[in-house]
Amino acid sequence: MGQVLEFTPEVDRETAAIHERVKTVIPQFEWQMHAPYIAAINRLKKEKGAVILAHNYQTPEIYHGVADFVGDSLALAREAAKTDAKLIIQAGVHFMAETSKILSPEKTVLIPSMEAGCSLASSITAADVRLLRESHPGVPIVTYVNTSAEVKAESDICCTSANAVDVVESLGVKKVFLIPDQYLAKNVANQTNVEILTWAGACEVHERFTADDIKAFRRSHPGVIVLAHPECPPEVVAEADFAGSTAAMIGYVETKRPKRVVMVTECSMSDNVAAAVRDVEFVRPCNLCPHMKRITLAGILRCLETGQYEVTVDPEIAARARIAVDRMLAVEPRAKAKAA
Ligand code: 13P
Ligand code: SF4
Repeated sequence: MGQVLEFTPEVDRETAAIHERVKTVIPQFEWQMHAPYIAAINRLKKEKGAVILAHNYQTPEIYHGVADFVGDSLALAREAAKTDAKLIIQAGVHFMAETSKILSPEKTVLIPSMEAGCSLASSITAADVRLLRESHPGVPIVTYVNTSAEVKAESDICCTSANAVDVVESLGVKKVFLIPDQYLAKNVANQTNVEILTWAGACEVHERFTADDIKAFRRSHPGVIVLAHPECPPEVVAEADFAGSTAAMIGYVETKRPKRVVMVTECSMSDNVAAAVRDVEFVRPCNLCPHMKRITLAGILRCLETGQYEVTVDPEIAARARIAVDRMLAVEPRAKAKAA
């Protein structure tokens, strides 16, 4: 059992501005438990020159309380590549920390829990990818970033949910593998003429949503705008008003300000957006990612204090994986490419 920190008047003062930001989504009694950790983390991270990169699925006390940078997988990868900080704390899952390490081998990358995995990353191994390549010579392999460094190292190029169509089309070929998420692959196939081969992986959070769930949201919340993540099955995406990466969904709410919205994705994200966008009503189906939820304030504090757990990647594997990640980062979004 770790230390229990106290909510003192000093902590109250130090965290007042953050409290103002999250008070609509974190009840007062809960806030008094979080605030001492938020204050301690923010002090220590300054002392150590660390930067905290947090995924959009982190809980509001992390997302609004201690993160220096928040975003989707693509934005976090870009930030890891450009930050000057020597110490990166990844408030996200293991593949995200590995991606940071691949892009910044000279930096120390820490993750508060080594058990923060991902059902997609664990669905495929490097040996599986080598077999796909052997059995389909000449077919490029596009790999979702939700994979291990070893799998990335066997791939031609990576993608995220934000750029998957652009990446697939950037290759200029008729047929590609898009692995390991079968649903992302099918959703991309619906937006391109490129033939997509895939793998039987799935996100354990998004695969639970059904088209009937969406119909039920519409019945019980008339006028609701439905936003879905492309890791959802295609019949769910077909029922939605908009599909996009976590950042694209947030962008939709921030710019279009629908009266009522449901984000068909991990449920902490609705809390994070609702804290900032108070004129929108959020319908909140609660599908939690058990891996993302292994990251806690107490874990982040321990990580800063002890330097555990350091994420390392074999340098030879990291160098090969980096080629695939760098190729992805060099792909221009279609809209931008067309404007140029
Ligand atoms: P985004 O890249 O859309 O943030 O989604 C990645 C993901 O599923 C994290 O679990
Ligand atoms: Fe993996 Fe799904 Fe969790 Fe994202 S939400 S980390 S894809 S299991």
